[in-house]
Amino acid sequence: MDQLQLAAVGTAVSIARSFTVLRLRTWSAGYLAEEAKIVVSELATNAVKATGVVDPHPGWGTSSALNLITVRLLGLDDAIVIEVWDAEPTRPMLALPVEDDESGRGLVLVEALARRWGTYAAHGGKVVWAELALFPAGHP
Ligand SMILES: Nc1ncnc2c1ncn2[C@@H]1O[C@H](COP(=O)(O)OP(=O)(O)OP(=O)(O)O)[C@@H](O)[C@H]1O
Ligand SMILES: [Mg+2]
Repeated sequence: MDQLQLAAVGTAVSIARSFTVLRLRTWSAGYLAEEAKIVVSELATNAVKATGVVDPHPGWGTSSALNLITVRLLGLDDAIVIEVWDAEPTRPMLALPVEDDESGRGLVLVEALARRWGTYAAHGGKVVWAELALFPAGHP
C-alpha cells in the first residue's frame, strides 16, 4: 500500500498520475500504466472538482482554505486498486452522457477500464476506487 496526500488543486492530477506510474513500475506492473493514468486522472479530477480550487490561476490567499485529497494504491495478488479520497461525503453517480455532452464521461471511462469500481464513506468524505486486473504471471 502506498499513498500520497495532495492539495485539492488542478496540479494534483498530474502529480497523482506520476505517482501512480512510478509505483506500478516498482510493482512490475508498468504495463498497466496507460489505463491507470486515465483512471487516476479521472478520479483525481473529480475529487478536485468536488472539493478543491478549480481555477487554474487562483488569486492570492486562496491557498489558505485548501482541502486535501489522498491517492492510495493497493497491490493485490491479481489486481491493483487505485483509490482517491476527498472531503465531500456525497457519492458520485455514473452519468449517462448523451452524444454531445462534454462532461459526464469520466466515470464511464473508469467503468470501461476497471474490472470493478465503487465508492465508500471514509473520514468525513468518501473514497472512489477502481480495480485494474493484473495479467497472470508469464502472460504480460
Ligand atoms: N469525487 C466526487 N465527489 C462528488 N461527486 C462526484 C465525484 N466524482 C464524480 N461526481 C459526480 O458524478 C458525476 C459524474 O462524474 P464524471 O467524472 O463521470 O463526469 P464529470 O466529472 O461531470 O465530467 P467529465 O469527467 O467528463 O469531465 C459528476 O458530474 C459529479 O456530479
Ligand atoms: Mg469527471
